[in-house]
Amino acid sequence: MCGIVGFAGYQQAAPVLLEGLEKLEYRGYDSAGIAVSGVNGDGEPSIEIVKAKGRLKVLREMTDDGRSVPGCCGIGHTRWATHGEPSVVNSHPHYAKNKRVAVVHNGIIENYQTLREKLIREGYSFVSSTDTETAAHLLDKYYEKDPIEAISRLMFHIRGSYALGILFLDRPGEIYAVRKDSPLIVGRSEQGNFIASDVPAILKYTRDVCFLPNLEIVRLSADAIRFYNVDREEIQERFTQIDWDTEAAEKGGFAHFMLKEIYEQPKAVRDTVNPRIRDGHVVLEELGWDDAELAKIRRLQMAACGSAYHVCMTARYMIEQTARIPVDVDLASEFRYRDPLLEKDTLVVVISQSGETADSLAALREAKSRGLKTLAIVNVVGSSIAREADSVFYTWAGPEISVATTKAYSTQLAAVYLLAIALGRARGLVDAEKEAAMTQELLRLPDKIERILEEKERIQWFANKFSHSKDIFFIGRGLDYASSLEGSLKLKEISYIHSEAYAAGELKHGTISLIEDGILVVGVATQNALFEKLVSNMVEVKSRGAYVLGVTSYGNYSMEDVANYTIYVPRTMECFAASLVVVPLQLLAYYVALGKGLDVDKPRNLAKSVTVE
Ligand code: AGP
Repeated sequence: MCGIVGFAGYQQAAPVLLEGLEKLEYRGYDSAGIAVSGVNGDGEPSIEIVKAKGRLKVLREMTDDGRSVPGCCGIGHTRWATHGEPSVVNSHPHYAKNKRVAVVHNGIIENYQTLREKLIREGYSFVSSTDTETAAHLLDKYYEKDPIEAISRLMFHIRGSYALGILFLDRPGEIYAVRKDSPLIVGRSEQGNFIASDVPAILKYTRDVCFLPNLEIVRLSADAIRFYNVDREEIQERFTQIDWDTEAAEKGGFAHFMLKEIYEQPKAVRDTVNPRIRDGHVVLEELGWDDAELAKIRRLQMAACGSAYHVCMTARYMIEQTARIPVDVDLASEFRYRDPLLEKDTLVVVISQSGETADSLAALREAKSRGLKTLAIVNVVGSSIAREADSVFYTWAGPEISVATTKAYSTQLAAVYLLAIALGRARGLVDAEKEAAMTQELLRLPDKIERILEEKERIQWFANKFSHSKDIFFIGRGLDYASSLEGSLKLKEISYIHSEAYAAGELKHGTISLIEDGILVVGVATQNALFEKLVSNMVEVKSRGAYVLGVTSYGNYSMEDVANYTIYVPRTMECFAASLVVVPLQLLAYYVALGKGLDVDKPRNLAKSVTVE
């Protein structure tokens, strides 16, 4: 997720762009850049581009807060790296030769590699390793006289999600923009007209905005805004008045980043999965291993902390079921000190949202010191764990601001599903038919998450009944035990309510003594073979006074014979159920904490990334 701003007006553009980018730094902040169109000393049209690695303040210092860049029309970008490390050369705007076209982009161009190879064969040369530069060269290739035509041709060739801000050298004073699946708004004001990824960027100047519909193109100058459809027909668009304040706007109208990020999960999973599935096959080229090399892996050793550790717990069940290789899972803080016995054909997998967690980084280094092949599943491009691992699988969740992870967790789950399928295929256990079925279901997960989100009121109503609990327990079996661990952690870390997750079969070995009248026990039951056993565990606790919430898949209506209240999630392949069942658990934790009036995004004592032991 990145931030885009564009301004065409009656005052210097660069300061306005920098102000707008500052309001979008929550969307990405590893590098930034601006491009401003004007005329050079010879009266020729020119585009001046300034880019900087690091936070926006570096770009501010380079341009004297924008004052050193003349011109009243420009575009700007603050980056959250997905393709290509954070660097000046990878930062936006990207441009074609002799700056005939300059582009800023938010989104992921899924087929950029194929397009890049074709353009190189046609003589184009690339300077960056980004997907966005491909769009710049394609626009250059398609642009003859009509920018709208060039953009509509681009739209027919690129796949994925994009919001593009574009300057054409011979069109000084004009900004063009187009979007598909990534957000883009158009703003109009007395000072001039704007494009932006999100409302906060332009609230200082206007509340009069149009949320650009998908697959529409806009051409704007200081005094005119015109909209076009993909067939290049001019169309009219409606503007609305924004009544949000700045703080709410940064959260996209959500009360907290956590809720916003829960709602971003469908897109985050789509962005992470779709580029890695081609014609029903899992494609993990970025790992640099073919099936023959994957087949040599005899064991997986996974290590992580917190929620990422719960992903490893889920992965163990899922990978052992799908690829039939043993998976060991350790808390990274334990792994690094237990002098583990590791054979040479073991792949060590470290999962980390931040890529900077000290214990997880130490676990990675421990594995490397023993000469083992390492894979990192990381959300932050260029982070320490990403840089030091032999191979990296990036999750494309975008920046996760809330301390409690949600969308990054969901994309990590998606990553281990893809890895499991690839391992199973390499070992001859997943044939083409099964791979096609599994990848097809993976592609459906985002829509199923969206269906759960539509039911949030039911979960909110239930959560409000338990905001003042002293203890809340979660029980599950198999994959559902891993999901219970995550549900319990989410609740603990933001509501401060004591909570434990138990493998349901363990209750009779001691923990059931904790059950008292009215205590909430959440039973997670998505695994058919274990469903009856889990339900009987729920009967055990209910008979001792517990109030029982059942979380299960549609169709398992017998749950209502036992549970006091039931939340259903759409059916999916059981091995993917964790991706669905975690959503109600996230919402339950969120609304319980909200009911207690707590600071959901910044819970006490916690940091987003634990970079110390
Ligand atoms: C999850 O909600 C927590 N914020 C925490 O457990 C987190 O998952 C853990 O600290 C690991 O962080 P990482 O993924 O950045 O390594």
